[in-house]
Amino acid sequence: MSGLLEVCGLTVELPTASGWVRPVNDVSLSIAAGESLGLVGESGSGKTMLSLALMGLLPPGTRVSGEASLATEASMKQLTALSAREWRNVRGGEIAMVFQEPMTSLNPVMRIGAQIEETIRAHQPKLSAKEVKRKAVDSLRRAAVPEPEVRAEQFPHQLSGGLRQRAMIAMALAAGPRLLIADEPTTALDVTVQKQILDLLDGLRRELQVGLLFITHDLGVVAQVAERVAVMYAGRIIEEGPARNVLERPLHPYTQGLLRASPTLKRGMLTPISGAVPQLTALPPGCAFEPRCELRRDECTLAVPGFRIVGSDHAARCILV
Ligand SMILES: Nc1ncnc2c1ncn2[C@@H]1O[C@H](COP(=O)(O)OP(=O)(O)OP(=O)(O)O)[C@@H](O)[C@H]1O
Ligand code: SF4
Ligand SMILES: [Mg+2]
Repeated sequence: MSGLLEVCGLTVELPTASGWVRPVNDVSLSIAAGESLGLVGESGSGKTMLSLALMGLLPPGTRVSGEASLATEASMKQLTALSAREWRNVRGGEIAMVFQEPMTSLNPVMRIGAQIEETIRAHQPKLSAKEVKRKAVDSLRRAAVPEPEVRAEQFPHQLSGGLRQRAMIAMALAAGPRLLIADEPTTALDVTVQKQILDLLDGLRRELQVGLLFITHDLGVVAQVAERVAVMYAGRIIEEGPARNVLERPLHPYTQGLLRASPTLKRGMLTPISGAVPQLTALPPGCAFEPRCELRRDECTLAVPGFRIVGSDHAARCILV
């Protein structure tokens, strides 16, 4: 598989009253064309901040270092070095995003079809009005929206939550991006609709060969959509590998804890991880998970553990691996 997205040592720093914090800290990952990577972690671990960095949507005043390159038809694009003008072509055209709550990204006073047409026009300005309209309806059909011509004429509030999320997916894929970032796209939906949306994303990824970065705190969801899994904790990736290995034979005590606490994967008694994610302003000196880790040793506080690799492609940042 060819590399589509290559992220290497990506760090995002934000100014706070107590100094700079790193919600994304030395993150490396890669996604091939048509591949799905699940990014998991508790609230505040930096998942959204990472995706905003990949979309060029970080808040002003943010410092970014490291590399994130995307393979496009013409060349490798260095995302951390794009100008505002270049971002307008990449965002939507090469990388698109689906959010948890479609109502925050859909315009409430604009018809669904017109919103999708706007996205298509922004990236394919030479198409005729008729072609743009046809493409918009096609994209709704591809996202399994029933009666796409009728739905295209409706406003977001006239659609159910599940249909709105389908419309969002249609809009995200309308201009033919190579990478789709989905940030908790099914969290607000009930279980049956959630399953339908996950199946839809999975089918579209395979059919269109788009890379998928799927963000969630739910390991059960990740098991349904991801070929590989990266686990994030306090801004860092602490485990990465094929989904089966990570979910069935996790290496890192944090991942093991997440699995024991997962209502969708674990049968029987659930044991939540005690303690809370550390504040970014007060990270422990060594392993960030050390204060909560039942297996901690003195040396865990000395330095941030580097990745240790098991087999060919499963790695974790823990001294016990
Ligand atoms: N504008 C900001 N200024 C300072 N810190 C921020 C800002 N926005 C977010 N953070 C911090 O960055 C960290 C990462 O936040 P992020 O939203 O990426 O987490 P997340 O993993 O997406 O969580 P969730 O699962 O709740 O969506 C958090 O500690 C958060 O408090
Ligand atoms: S490095 Fe130490 S504290 Fe961190 S997860 Fe491993 S055993 Fe636990
Ligand atoms: Mg988030």
